[in-house]
Amino acid sequence: MNSVRRAVRLAFEAAGSSGAGTTSSAVVGPEPGTRVAPSSTPERRTVELRIRRQDAPDTAPYWQRFRVAAKPGDNIVSVLRALRLDPVTTDGERVDPVAFEHNCMEEVCGACAMLIDGSPRPSCSTLLAELGDVIRLEPLPKFPVVRDLMVDRARLFAGLQRVQAWVRLDGPWVTHERAPRISQRQWAADYRYSRCMSCGICLAACPQFPDSAGDGRGFIGPSALAQVRLLNAHPLGRYDKTARLHAIMAEGGLTDCGNAQNCVRVCPKEIPLTTAIGELGRQTTLQALKDLFGG
Ligand code: SF4
Ligand code: FES
Repeated sequence: MNSVRRAVRLAFEAAGSSGAGTTSSAVVGPEPGTRVAPSSTPERRTVELRIRRQDAPDTAPYWQRFRVAAKPGDNIVSVLRALRLDPVTTDGERVDPVAFEHNCMEEVCGACAMLIDGSPRPSCSTLLAELGDVIRLEPLPKFPVVRDLMVDRARLFAGLQRVQAWVRLDGPWVTHERAPRISQRQWAADYRYSRCMSCGICLAACPQFPDSAGDGRGFIGPSALAQVRLLNAHPLGRYDKTARLHAIMAEGGLTDCGNAQNCVRVCPKEIPLTTAIGELGRQTTLQALKDLFGG
């Protein structure tokens, strides 16, 4: 899987990343990801961060470069935290600290996702040891920039709302029956989907997921589809299965998937997103027959 992820990253780098008004070509010098002349011992090294910054949602982006001393085992969040203590550019200008998000530091919250050398990745689990001495950081594409590397991921949560990605605790069913039983086999299959941390990385990589929210009826994206797969199998989630299937049979639903398979390659939790999409194809076909003939 690592080699596949590496291939996707390279593809992203080759394609280049872009943003409104500014592209990575605005920065000159060695290509990110390439090793430049050794700047220190292998234990301690100095890395150059090239960061695409944006002061507010409606202002133009621009690039700044920083040099940061990195410790062994550092990840991208570590060096951004170090930079926050002394935000001086390579030109010697003291600037506002770079804004970025992180919480759990263990690939659980999803808040730290960003473009690293052109690939969407969680910055808390991206180790400097995997990267060159010049590292390009950009906000996650497909999501509006709040400031610098912080984005607003409300689009992702709107998608979860569209498919009712939850289990209702109250309803017309008998709730004092024995707890539902799930086989070990089903539990193991479902658990993979429950690992989603709503990072938005799969959406950033998906060519079908629109660049902007538009009227909110564009392709819903792989993360919401995987949650439909998960919750349709849940003993209580099944009560809303029909509504969820109708949601993904509507405009912007399952049939908008172009089968690019980028999502499954970049998902840091290794969620089998395309397997979910395949299973949902069967479920929606059965649902369409039920709608036609009743049942
Ligand atoms: S499916 Fe994977 S990449 Fe997509 S939001 Fe969930 S954890 Fe992130
Ligand atoms: S800080 Fe939570 S996933 Fe990176």
